[in-house]
Amino acid sequence: MQVERLLDLLADGRFHSGQSLGDALGISRTAVWKQIKKLEQLGIQIDSVHGKGYRLKQSLNLLSAHKIRNELSETAKKQITDIEIYLSVDSTNTRANQFGKDRFVCLAEQQTAGRGRRGREWVSPFGQNIYLSLCWYFYSGVSQLEGLSLSIAVLLCRALEEFDLQDIKVKWPNDLLCKQRKLAGILLEMSGDADGVCKVVIGVGVNVNMDRLQYHIDQPWVSISELTDKIISRDKLAGKIINHLALGLLEFQEKGFSAFKDEWMKRDLFFEKSIKVVTASAEIEGIEKGVDDRGCLYIKTSEGVKRIHGGEISVRLI
Ligand code: BTN
Repeated sequence: MQVERLLDLLADGRFHSGQSLGDALGISRTAVWKQIKKLEQLGIQIDSVHGKGYRLKQSLNLLSAHKIRNELSETAKKQITDIEIYLSVDSTNTRANQFGKDRFVCLAEQQTAGRGRRGREWVSPFGQNIYLSLCWYFYSGVSQLEGLSLSIAVLLCRALEEFDLQDIKVKWPNDLLCKQRKLAGILLEMSGDADGVCKVVIGVGVNVNMDRLQYHIDQPWVSISELTDKIISRDKLAGKIINHLALGLLEFQEKGFSAFKDEWMKRDLFFEKSIKVVTASAEIEGIEKGVDDRGCLYIKTSEGVKRIHGGEISVRLI
């Protein structure tokens, strides 16, 4: 795509005249100007100086499939078929689902229609975070997938902990929080045969370097750079996430959620706390009692212990 090639040419941070960019891309100066506008629409700031041309205002560290591959473990190298990176997509989950290839990973610099759980938007500004989706096929029906979303939460915690982050907690089923604020989210989308092959798209969003002043999000959130005071390499982080997913999903296929349950429980943000669970049909209040081997949540209420399955459910403190 022209806009991607243009970005490559500008990546050195120097001025390039409209003419030289046009020559390199085989387009007119007016067409270059139109592509520059497209970059600006993505949120990339560009200096445009008469007689000098265009240059990037700030250096850009874009994701690189090559650098991500260099981070991969032997297991991940064997498991993962392809890694694709887009400058801008509607949603990486939608792309991974449409492409539909087993063990295919895609990432994007920006999502224009990033999706969260319960029909919410996932705010996905350009070049600041991780938006990653992995397509993985399971062959023994939906019952094999019980506890998968909680297991993914554990795997993502493991990956993030490789970056000096401590005390990452999980909120049922799979939100990741640090200091009571959301750090990462997971969206699983499943399709297929109840008794046979199931295609699962595992979507992971991590707040990495997101600028607090620029974005309003309707829930408390935090980013890795705020927690560690460091700018971390998104390529490294993406590599670690893929490594943990590739290894962990193999383990999950063999042992199910029981292999991850203790670790999930250790990180359970609301364990023994008073919570309210809101489902489509009811509100349940009680003390959170952890999860079972299937990933169901237990709550001790005044009417006895209730078990909550997955679904469009919200859990909060009272
Ligand atoms: C949540 O609500 O906590 C889940 C957020 C999941 C966001 C990720 S970003 C990559 C993938 N693509 C999407 O549209 N959503 C997921």
